[in-house]
Amino acid sequence: MTITVRAATAPSARAIFLLMAQGADLKQHPWFKRLPAAVQQTALALVRAREFTGKTDEVRVIPFGSAARTLVLLGLGERKNFTHRQAMLVARKIIVVAKQHKLLDVALTFADVQVSGWSAEQLGQLLAENFQLAHYDYTRYRTVPKGGWPQVKNVQMLCSANALRDVQRGVRAGTIIGQATNAARDLGNTPGSDMTPTLLANAAVTAGKRMGFTVTILKKDALEKIGMGGVLGVARGSEHPPTFSILEYAAPGHEKDTPIVYIGKGVTFDSGGLNVKPDTGMYEMHMDMSGGAAVISALSAIALLQLPVRVIGLIPAVENMAAGDAYRPGDQLRSLSGKTIEVMHTDAEGRVILADALTYAERFKPSAVIDVATLTGAAIGALGQRASALLSPDENFSRELQELSEQSGDFGWPLPLWPEYEADVQGTFGDVANSAKTRWGGAITAAAFLWQFAKKHKRWAHMDIAPTMTTIDGQHLAKGSAGAGVRLLVAYARAHA
Ligand code: BES
Ligand code: MN
Ligand code: ZN
Repeated sequence: MTITVRAATAPSARAIFLLMAQGADLKQHPWFKRLPAAVQQTALALVRAREFTGKTDEVRVIPFGSAARTLVLLGLGERKNFTHRQAMLVARKIIVVAKQHKLLDVALTFADVQVSGWSAEQLGQLLAENFQLAHYDYTRYRTVPKGGWPQVKNVQMLCSANALRDVQRGVRAGTIIGQATNAARDLGNTPGSDMTPTLLANAAVTAGKRMGFTVTILKKDALEKIGMGGVLGVARGSEHPPTFSILEYAAPGHEKDTPIVYIGKGVTFDSGGLNVKPDTGMYEMHMDMSGGAAVISALSAIALLQLPVRVIGLIPAVENMAAGDAYRPGDQLRSLSGKTIEVMHTDAEGRVILADALTYAERFKPSAVIDVATLTGAAIGALGQRASALLSPDENFSRELQELSEQSGDFGWPLPLWPEYEADVQGTFGDVANSAKTRWGGAITAAAFLWQFAKKHKRWAHMDIAPTMTTIDGQHLAKGSAGAGVRLLVAYARAHA
């Protein structure tokens, strides 16, 4: 799918989208008068009969002309409620409708989706990003239907000559970020047998070669040598050896900059280990490497955007399985930090591998560390499926990320991380317990555990993306992985470039 921006008054695409707010006058739309009289009459009749009122998601598809053209009326809801959040949904709805009705070539006017306080560039990005997100589907394991998968070939966006450059710049960035997010969804959706720790590391290498960043993979023997007891401990129950990927991007001249470090949980399948998950809890656990996928894709987008920064990505990858030599409750694992991790529960594996990555990050002396992880069911309990949890002992940092998340559409919301919570993860016979003494506040106590390994970092935040791991109804996105984290990580790097 290509997205073209033109400064023209009349669309040349076969399918024309007119976006109308509730109560707006269709006749006032700049494109309306240019339509053939017959289709104008049909559209006006629908409005008069109140069969199209402009309500959110309301759609009327009107074919016209001999050349199989189509007019699509799409409702924007009440103008006063129209925010960037609605704009994201409208962009996606356009693509969903186009795919449904096999409209290959669609046009809209940029002026229809104005959001107060948003620049032409920001909106161009938002639209392109969400066109891409809505166009995505995971078809790798499905038989191709006759005629192929529904696709949109081109989206034409017409804007004023003044705005052209800005919109184009936004569309370019939005396309990169949207496609990178989709690449993360591809990795997330890949079944566990086809996405082992080694395959995840290979995906990082492939992305690095294509997008322009370097990747070093530490294999099991290297991890033994440096003492990553957390990663090695969790990996012990699996036939598939662990990997630890180090991704590095630096713009020319920025090789010596103080880097930002992004860490992504790469559990390629989470059975729960010996504390095996109940049947319903295991189904989507091939997506437990979504944090790792987000880091790969964030670096891809950052490299393609050639942001003037230095960013390191770290991805500890394991498969959490139950087997003869799997790690056991009661085991003590010697982490890279030297602290022992007392294993209370083998299903709290994510934090154990992240602990080693947080320690490994120290060697880069980063300005900020953000880890992204499908870490707890408790985060889903706290927030539902519409926001990731943001936790940091640095409230300003957490607030900054919350704002970036709101703008980027990669929604996050803060949970507290006070020193009082640290008491909940003290070990009995070891230094730190991987599961808290209390059953309450599991997303917070998980972060309190991570904090024990992040004390040397200037700024550290944890994003629990378990809530937003998959898409939900009403988002106008394909079922499966949502690519959570990518947009926020890219936004943070851009804000600090
Ligand atoms: N990967 C899971 C968390 C998860 C659950 C992600 C559902 C996405 C959807 C994580 O490893 C886990 O099992 N967490 C446990 C921790 C508990 C044992 C302390 C949980 O949340 O139940
Ligand atoms: Mn688990
Ligand atoms: Zn997990």
